[in-house]
Amino acid sequence: MQSSLMEKKNVSVFENYDALVNATAELFVKLGEEAIKGRGGYVVSLSGGSTPKGFYARLADKEVASRLDWSKIFVFFGDERTVAYTSPESNQRMITESLLSKVPLSRENVFALSDPDMDPKATAIDYERTMREFFGLDSGELPQFDFMLLGLGEDGHTASLFPGSPALAETQRWFVDNKVEKLNTTRLTTTYPVINNSRNIIFLASGKAKAAVLKDVLTGPEGKYPSQNVKAEKGKLYWYLDKEIAADL
Ligand code: 6PG
Repeated sequence: MQSSLMEKKNVSVFENYDALVNATAELFVKLGEEAIKGRGGYVVSLSGGSTPKGFYARLADKEVASRLDWSKIFVFFGDERTVAYTSPESNQRMITESLLSKVPLSRENVFALSDPDMDPKATAIDYERTMREFFGLDSGELPQFDFMLLGLGEDGHTASLFPGSPALAETQRWFVDNKVEKLNTTRLTTTYPVINNSRNIIFLASGKAKAAVLKDVLTGPEGKYPSQNVKAEKGKLYWYLDKEIAADL
């Protein structure tokens, strides 16, 4: 991959998955230390799926976790499936089991979605209200996350912003229910206005199955994939990749 593109898109490629998740944990700690020192708190939005599991496990590792003051860390969920918390599909369950239950984080610092499986519309409205209360913002202003973790799907989606789904066009609301026709389900997701207002946006992606779509996302025409609409309008965007996914760059 040309170094100019690497630089322009702030792409970091690591030897393998372990090196990738270790580097992501180091970045999380570094940005966390800066946020806590500089602003007294570290507000993060965590993503689901399988890729971040290794990152969460590494972050939960005592010698990493002990480097952060978890009393000053506040956790939101970037997106969720419309399933019960007890479902193996639940992002909240995965993130809680792999990270939140293993670090000294009080429940008040974790902002869960109310009833993702019961009433997605109401849950989305309620979650936005939760965000507004936490950030203490009126309408018109946007919340600013310090660490917005995103994944990449093989169809170029990110969070639960899928190709052709209504949420791609959302410009006002912060968090919405989003009908995903191809999955025949409704998802719940943070919207572009909030994602793009983050201080740090980190795409964490790995594996050869996504090498083709990653190349297209990073070097192909804009506007083809939802992940291409993620722009660091108020901060920095990082692509944290392993060699396998970066093979075609
Ligand atoms: C989700 C995620 C989603 C995920 C991608 C990649 O709820 O599944 O938010 O956007 O990051 O689908 O998933 P994998 O990491 O499992 O490939």
